[in-house]
This record gives sequence, structure tokens and C-alpha cells, in this order.
Amino acid sequence: MTSTASTPSSQRSFYAMEDWRGGTRSLLEEQDYWIDQVEGTIPPDLRGTLFRNGPGLLDRGGISLAHPFDGDGMICAFTFVEGRVHFRNRYVQTAGYVAEEAANKILYRGVFGTQKSGGCLANFLDTRIKNIANTQVIYWGDKLLALWEAALPYRLDSSTLGTLGLDNLDGLLQPKDTFAAHPRIDPQRQRLVNFAIQPGPKTKIHLYEFDLSWQLIEQQTYAIPGFAFIHDFALTPTYAIFFQNPVRLNPIPYLLGLRGAAQCISFNPQQPTRIWLMPRNGGTPQCLTMPACFVFHHANAYEEGNQITIDSIAYDHFPSPEPGMDFRNVNFAALPPSLLWRIQLNLEKQRVQQNCLDSRCCEFPTVHPHWVGQPYRYVYMAAGHDPVENAPLQALLRRDLITGEEDIWSFAPKGFVSEPVFVPKGIGGQDGIWASQGDEEDGWILQVVYDAADEKSHLVIFDAAKISAGPVARLSLRHHIPYGLHGTFTGFVKNSQ
Ligand code: CO
Repeated sequence: MTSTASTPSSQRSFYAMEDWRGGTRSLLEEQDYWIDQVEGTIPPDLRGTLFRNGPGLLDRGGISLAHPFDGDGMICAFTFVEGRVHFRNRYVQTAGYVAEEAANKILYRGVFGTQKSGGCLANFLDTRIKNIANTQVIYWGDKLLALWEAALPYRLDSSTLGTLGLDNLDGLLQPKDTFAAHPRIDPQRQRLVNFAIQPGPKTKIHLYEFDLSWQLIEQQTYAIPGFAFIHDFALTPTYAIFFQNPVRLNPIPYLLGLRGAAQCISFNPQQPTRIWLMPRNGGTPQCLTMPACFVFHHANAYEEGNQITIDSIAYDHFPSPEPGMDFRNVNFAALPPSLLWRIQLNLEKQRVQQNCLDSRCCEFPTVHPHWVGQPYRYVYMAAGHDPVENAPLQALLRRDLITGEEDIWSFAPKGFVSEPVFVPKGIGGQDGIWASQGDEEDGWILQVVYDAADEKSHLVIFDAAKISAGPVARLSLRHHIPYGLHGTFTGFVKNSQ
């Protein structure tokens, strides 16, 4: 799939690599404090907790990890209580983290290329996996869970962030099972929907739907041919939608101790991307194809008669981590840009039409939670500052999918952003089920920004309807937070302070 973006050959001066690099430092200290440096006004109706997850540790025993995705999960909680915000961060005390803390050295290979010291002999045939619990954190049915897609969830104490242990969801999951890091909440049926990948000659996709008390309401298992690297899915009232990217896995270099598993994935541009529509209540899956692309994240999807629309962030090819490359010296301009595409499926004619909506690189798309799976108008993303060049994410972008209008605020040159989280205005539920039936723009956007000017991170709050007006509040932390992955906001306010 070829995008409409052009990539200039020379890097422009709207950011400096050394500034970006400041957000790749480990955060060793675990903190607890009320944030006292606030510019602007914290919206009084914001009540609840923003939980965020991401790699907190980027080196161990003086050795850098090969890739941030291999870093141990660290949870941050921003709790909004009566116009004040309390901050806390804790490492997930996974078995691997505890063991490596005690040894102060890397004991496990990482999926994205981190190796134990001692060369390939030390890594030869070592296929033990460290559950790093670093990708997402969700609050649902009175449980706070840290998720990593290749293993079981870790349950945390939602007040203290202390680790309670692995959680098998009341016996649903076996010790070797997985649980994806991208659950979606169906706002109509008030269900949490998630999947699990089981590799094999055929890849099995397990689909689970839970009610508000974690009772399993639906469970389906589908098998698709070949290897599948699936990080996220899209949800409509009828379907769970999966993109099978055209990648192959050659595990030999991994088994020989030469490469991480993700470095053994190769992209085949001659093969199509397969779009699988799995009926949520059982039945026969449908498969349509589109030109090769690689998708990590979907923004949203919806049905209109026989047509299904899916908005996704697509790369021309798999942005593969190269062996031996120092991720802190990554050449952004040389990587494939991540772009917003609209993919429309005509189920009657079995046709797929895809359009790139913007030449600006973007990632971490989100929408108002009431519009998940429904026809919608606005998507919010972390985006590049420059309209065409692939670069670090420095801006918050809202795109109007009807008019094409963009509403943007950039933190360039010194600011680097994380995933935006949408919080509907009004009274929120504890589980991401929102009582308010306001307008689609009626909400707040929360975003953590690393600012190289003071080498600290800040939580910024935007009115979702007026991004280009800038943040309504900026809360300054006393330290930085390494670039994170995903988070959720809940009405949960219990705080041990
Ligand atoms: Co993700």
C-alpha cells in the first residue's frame, strides 16, 4: 500500500534528537505526591483516575535494552479529587522484574531484541518469556489489570498500585495462555471485549466478552491460516475485526540466540493484508483483502447496511527493529510513516476501498467512548509537528472525518507527546461506561508530555472541542516519565492518601 506522503530526505530543525532522547531514560524512583505546580484550571468535573502503563526501565545493570518495548511495565496513576491531582507510580512486580531487581542484571531475553550478556551462546535456545506487563492498564469490574499481549494479566491494587499477582480471570486462562493488551468496551451492551492469540500452524484467535462483573458472556474461537502478528482489533455491534498483516516468522535466528523474536519477522509486500470479520456471536468468519500494509492500531469501526468502515493507522511495511541498532539513535525520517487510513468494506460486492486521509504521521488514535463501534465524526491522535515528515510525536491532533478539518496543538520543538485519552464531560462510571449522553466533542483530552526544556513530564488537559486553543491546564511533575504506551481513565477515585 503506497501512501500519499512524501518523505523529505533531510531532517528539519523542529526537534533535536538529544531532546527526544531525554524521554528514553529510565525512571527508577517510585513516587507519591500531590501535584502542586499547576498552570490554568483543572476542570472541576474531572473526577477519577487516569491510569497509564509503559516501559519504565530502559536499562538494567548498566546495559541498555535493545528496544523500549522490552522495558518492564511501570504504572502511573493521576487521581483527580476536588480540583487537585495526586500522582503515584509503581513498577509491576512481575516474577521477571523481581528476579532481575535482585540480580541487577538482564536474566531474560526480550521479544524486541534485548539479549542476556554473554553473546549468542548465553542466549542459545533460551525461549523463556518474561511477562513484562507493560502495554495497557485497565480498570473493569473492580479489577485493575496490567496487560501485555503475550502472557496473563497482572492484577494490581487500584489504590496503592501494589502487585497482587497473575490473574487468570476466574480460571478462564491457563498459565501459558495470553490476553491481548487492547480490550475494547462496547458502550451499548456494557461489555469488555478482548482477544487472545494462540500461535500454531494455524493461528487461533480466542474472543471473549465480559459483563461488568467479569462474567463471561460470549466466547468464540476462530482459526486462521498461517502466522499472525495482531496487536489490536476493531469492534462493531456485529463483528470483531482483525488485520492479519502480511508478515512471516522465521524463528531460527531467535532459537540460535542471534535475534529477538520480533526481529525474525519479515514483511512480504507481495502478499495482501487480510481483514478478518469474526462474528461476535459465532458463525463463519469472512475474509477480505487489501494491498500490503502493517497496522498496530485501529481508531474505530462501524457498520452501515452492507458497508463496514474501519479507520486505522497503517505503515507501508513492518517498522522492524534492526539487530544491533541503538534505538536512541533511530533515524525517524528513514522509518515508514504511520498514517491514518479509512478502509471501507462492501460486503455485498466483497470489495475493499482504502484511502489515506492525511500525510501527517500519527499514532495512538482514540475516540469518545460512546461512539466506539458507531458512526462517528472525530478522531484524536498523537501526531507529528510537520505535515509530511516522519518524526517523533509532538502534537495533539483532532481530525473531523466529515469535513477533513484539523484542529491541532503542537508542543514542538521541546515537547514530545504520548497517547491522548478522551474523558467525557459529566459524571463518569467506574468502568469506562459513561452516563453522559452529550455531544461527541463534549469531553477532555488528557495527555502526558515530556518537555526537554525542563527535562520533566507534564500532564496537559485540553477541551476536546478546542484543541488549537491549547491546554486548559498544565500540571508539572517533579520528574520525567519515560515515553509510555496506553492508558485508561475511570471514575475510580479511591486513594490511599
Ligand atoms: Co497498542
